[in-house]
Amino acid sequence: MSSVLYLVLLFGAAVSAKHVLPSYVKTCSRNDPNLSECALKRGKEIIPKIIKGDPSIRLPVLDPMMLDKVGISTTGRANGGGLQLTCYKCNVYGLSNAVLQDIKIDLAKKHIALKIFVPQLSVAGKYDVNGKLLLFPITGNGQANITLLDLKAEAALDWKLIKRKGSEYAHISRDRVDFTASRLKLSLTGLFGGDKALSDNMNQILNDNWREVLDDLKPSISGTVSEIIKFTLNNIFDMIPYELFFPEK
Ligand SMILES: *[C@@H]1O[C@H](CO)[C@@H](O)[C@H](O)[C@H]1NC(C)=O
Ligand SMILES: *[C@@H]1O[C@H](CO)[C@@H](O)[C@H](O)[C@H]1NC(C)=O
Repeated sequence: MSSVLYLVLLFGAAVSAKHVLPSYVKTCSRNDPNLSECALKRGKEIIPKIIKGDPSIRLPVLDPMMLDKVGISTTGRANGGGLQLTCYKCNVYGLSNAVLQDIKIDLAKKHIALKIFVPQLSVAGKYDVNGKLLLFPITGNGQANITLLDLKAEAALDWKLIKRKGSEYAHISRDRVDFTASRLKLSLTGLFGGDKALSDNMNQILNDNWREVLDDLKPSISGTVSEIIKFTLNNIFDMIPYELFFPEK
């Protein structure tokens, strides 16, 4: 999920170049006849740089990326019932290997679409869970590791312009995230009050049925990622007037 976040952070950095931004960030002219192509090239150039984080543009370290608290919840399908899973001080690993595959920017429509590939993305940390997954009641707390392989994510963002102190600032008003993965791997220690046999058994079941588990969790994961993207991007956008994003030349 956070691969998308990564990419959007990248975009935020790329577009906010000029005086606030470090020298490794190059912008694209708004008059470039092929703005999307330019943005893709720039984006690929700066990925390896920004992954290390940069306090001068409020970019946190991105691999691992620390998230204070992440919640996943489902309302449940016909036989399922809802689930609440919360991860505390979770680390997201794997964004260093993210590959930016495509960017489409439409300045007139204030719209950007991104495609990114991440070979392996893991979210690991302390968790607690309560509810039902597949057909099974599931409760517990311990260490979680939720890993997606061959993650392909697409994000579509719209921004609007807000006037403040005589300048215009971009603000992400809408974003949608979708993703696919070739595999979901789950490890949840301490299920069922720490009963190891039951816990191991449930982990086995969840991994054997990872497709169904991913189907269940997908809307909620996408929604969470969306919120993180908006929050992070808007933090960056708040600092830099829009006209600096895409200079005249
Ligand atoms: C922009 O660049 C892409 C990728 O190189 C290319 O497929 C497309 O035809 C270009 N569009 C224009 C208008 O030059
Ligand atoms: C999480 O699980 C994946 C896949 O099993 C593994 O490669 C990775 O090292 C694990 N990460 C952590 C932090 O335990």
